[in-house]
Amino acid sequence: MNTKSSDWMRAYANIAFIKYWGKKDEALLLPQNNSLSLTLDAFYTDTKVEFSKDLMADELWINGQKQEAHALKKVQQILDIARELGQVTEYAKVSSYNAVPTAAGLASSASGLAALTAAVDDALGLHLSKQELSCLARRGSGSACRSIFGGFVEWQQGTDDSDSYAIPIDEANWDIGMIFVIVHDGKKDISSTEGMRRAVETSPFYNAWKSSCEKDLHEIKKAIKQRNLERVGQIAEHSALKMHSLNFSAQPPFNYWSPESIQVMNCVKDLRKAGYVAYFTMDAGPNVKIICKASEMDIIYDKLLSNYSPDQLVKALPGPGVQKVNEDQVMIIED
Ligand code: DP6
Repeated sequence: MNTKSSDWMRAYANIAFIKYWGKKDEALLLPQNNSLSLTLDAFYTDTKVEFSKDLMADELWINGQKQEAHALKKVQQILDIARELGQVTEYAKVSSYNAVPTAAGLASSASGLAALTAAVDDALGLHLSKQELSCLARRGSGSACRSIFGGFVEWQQGTDDSDSYAIPIDEANWDIGMIFVIVHDGKKDISSTEGMRRAVETSPFYNAWKSSCEKDLHEIKKAIKQRNLERVGQIAEHSALKMHSLNFSAQPPFNYWSPESIQVMNCVKDLRKAGYVAYFTMDAGPNVKIICKASEMDIIYDKLLSNYSPDQLVKALPGPGVQKVNEDQVMIIED
């Protein structure tokens, strides 16, 4: 047979509560610190892969559109390792569908590369353990190693390729939710890879960041165990502000904030004053994510509607780890 095909694999995006912001090994994607995230049900990627002798090059199709060769870099990092593990030489066709609101600018490389990792494992019959899948996903994009698992997940930085992987720490089946506020859908000017490199190399606060991460991680795990969302939110918000301070203090300085991001942060502070549990976090872009109680998500959503349109708001609950889906569950969205 000329083709080795996988089933469809689905992985969900994750948002970090303790941020990963810096590598100690750029080739292996080993991070400077442990990070901790929540996998969410609102954004996911469905992916299948076919290795075939009939292909003349690797191909990546997203939402029915063939991508330019330069968009394949992270995908090929995973394909190349998988080809070596499976002792095959065939090129691969990767087909992916992103279930994200149109033009939300939230298509996540984490869900995409985690789904791809599970798909190559299936296509080549590698039978990797979850831990090994997490290591392989990491080689595409650091944060992808966390999307192998559902709920709260910790990425343990490790010291080499085989011991830097994520582990599940809590299923998060308690009163926790997240609202995404989409203020901007453009492409970011500085990729996370470049941004974190500049922070590590030039921010005078980088060492302080690393030691504060260790304390934050310890505290947030305690708060998760106690199901104390208020404390979880406080630590997460502070971690995000510290990460963004590295960027403000880098040389040359840069940031991912827009005036609209600051408006959302002010809304979150108002929600807190009104007695709701609400904390914000931000990543390498201007959109803001609000950590809140699942039981208060609808009411907070309704309040946000006075400032934002429904297509700027997405509600999410904790989501599961990577899994196989039937073809008829795949949402075929053609761009
Ligand atoms: C701000 O995983 O996208 O979202 O490893 O270079 O591909 P690479 O970076 P990536 O960085 C994510 C950074 C972040 C924080 C986080 O998710 O922990």
